[in-house]
Amino acid sequence: GAPIEVDLKPIAEGQDIKVFWRGKPIYIMNRTKKQVDEARAVPVASLPDPATDQSRVKDGHDQWLVVIGICTHLGCIPIAHEGNYDGFFCPCHGSQYDSSGRIRQGPAPLNLAVPPYQFVSDTKIQIG
Ligand code: FES
Repeated sequence: GAPIEVDLKPIAEGQDIKVFWRGKPIYIMNRTKKQVDEARAVPVASLPDPATDQSRVKDGHDQWLVVIGICTHLGCIPIAHEGNYDGFFCPCHGSQYDSSGRIRQGPAPLNLAVPPYQFVSDTKIQIG
């Protein structure tokens, strides 16, 4: 599939949108400072799939989280802004992802994947 461009201007702080790329749901979340701070306060070594929040976002665009919305357990679509970690909750078997999309609790083994993307301007990304 071709790359897609997504305008970030309509996404207010604390909100997210879902777009489709190569048939996959992609969540784009404009995180609050609280969500970023929470994600960065977690000791990385304590995570089931250790990754820093910084490694999952783009430098200078720290509030923007872009993840593939497919649960790494059995492929359900997690719900954004639900669960105990200010991130995502998978209704199928209860996996909980944090505000960095990292698995924190439940049967999913891995973090939500980050798709290939780049900022083409301060308010626009290209996915793919
Ligand atoms: Fe998400 Fe099982 S598919 S917890």
